[in-house]
Amino acid sequence: MTKYLQEERPSGDDGRPDAEGESLLNRRGLLAGAAGLVGAMLMGSVTPSAEASTEGSPEDPTRVPGAAPTAYGQRSAFEKSARIPRSWWSSLTPLQDSHGILTPSALHFERHHNGVPTIQPTRHRLLIHGMVDQPWTFILDDLKRFPSVSRLAFIECSGNSGSEWRGPAGQTAQQTHGLTSTSEWTGVALKTVLQEVGVNPDASWMLAEGSDAAAMTRSLPLAPILEEAMLCYAQNGEPLRPEQGYPLRLLIPGWEGNTCIKWLRRLKLGRAPFMTREETSQYTDLMPDGTARQFTMVMDAKSVITSPSGGQHIQPGFVEIRGLAWSGRGRITLVEVSTDGGRSWQQATLQEPILPKCHTRFHFPWQWNGEDVILQSRCLDDTGYRQPDRATLVAVRGINSVYHYNAIQSWHIAADGKVSNVHA
Ligand code: CO
Repeated sequence: MTKYLQEERPSGDDGRPDAEGESLLNRRGLLAGAAGLVGAMLMGSVTPSAEASTEGSPEDPTRVPGAAPTAYGQRSAFEKSARIPRSWWSSLTPLQDSHGILTPSALHFERHHNGVPTIQPTRHRLLIHGMVDQPWTFILDDLKRFPSVSRLAFIECSGNSGSEWRGPAGQTAQQTHGLTSTSEWTGVALKTVLQEVGVNPDASWMLAEGSDAAAMTRSLPLAPILEEAMLCYAQNGEPLRPEQGYPLRLLIPGWEGNTCIKWLRRLKLGRAPFMTREETSQYTDLMPDGTARQFTMVMDAKSVITSPSGGQHIQPGFVEIRGLAWSGRGRITLVEVSTDGGRSWQQATLQEPILPKCHTRFHFPWQWNGEDVILQSRCLDDTGYRQPDRATLVAVRGINSVYHYNAIQSWHIAADGKVSNVHA
């Protein structure tokens, strides 16, 4: 038995058998009377399923050896939180299930304009041309050799909450607010790469183009993005997810998601906006008088209570109100919560870290006495911008637009504890 294990069982990283593990396995094997089965599992003849499984979950997990290590992890099979694929074009992050400020990469919202391309990283190229000293084509390894930068930032689709302009349409926080997510992004500063190619001082706009089947293309004014824009190849510590732009995307912290071009293949420097299709057919804001606002890039401050939120049920007694706040202009400085439909407001606790252009978590302790109430949150950022109520927003913007809806969200709690979306 001992000889068999020494010869056949997998060894540690240093190539030697793990003595501690061996004695444990021997003991367990003898206790269970199933040494052969343990040996077979260690040799890999019992293949772990690719999907985590709830089958065979033991009555007492201290009585049987657990599963073997795996090459790429899965969440517990008991956890079911998921994106809602809304159409061919987008999927929504389950904000109501989230903790802290990071969005798991697998749950980051999606918005594509002609599907997720499959791109071989070794074949991918980034062309930088136009008003530059020397047009240049970079391969991914070139970009990875530059000094790297990392930061946490939210990305929000400017159409997030667009369903709410005309009435309370979304039933859950995922449906009303699920087009925003936060990741740690890693790459090279745009400024670093542009310095390398040399930008003509008269260049003031930059075209960014993706290599998806829509060739998604936007014009970006250079001056306001130059300090913070990044060419990203990693998200949450690993290469970008395909649906987040693998192998390369633009990140402009605080700007509408559509400007953060995914599958980035081309940057062209020029003197004026390039007036692409997406700057007229979409991503403009139709005002009440029939004119349209163009190049509305910054995402204004916004907050939402994620728990309790639409579709949930609560019990009388202590309820911690939890939510997220963010601003494309900077840092969140204050979140207030109302439990009486906006008649009075109380300050919520902001959870560290409180980072600029990043989801910020807030908490507010509350006792629900079983009465019919309306919960709201509102936030303030470090530029002094305060999240508007719905009436104030609609008075300025009308209801013709689908973009940049950031009004205060109201959740109604009925006497039976059921939470639903209302406009209060
Ligand atoms: Co816009």
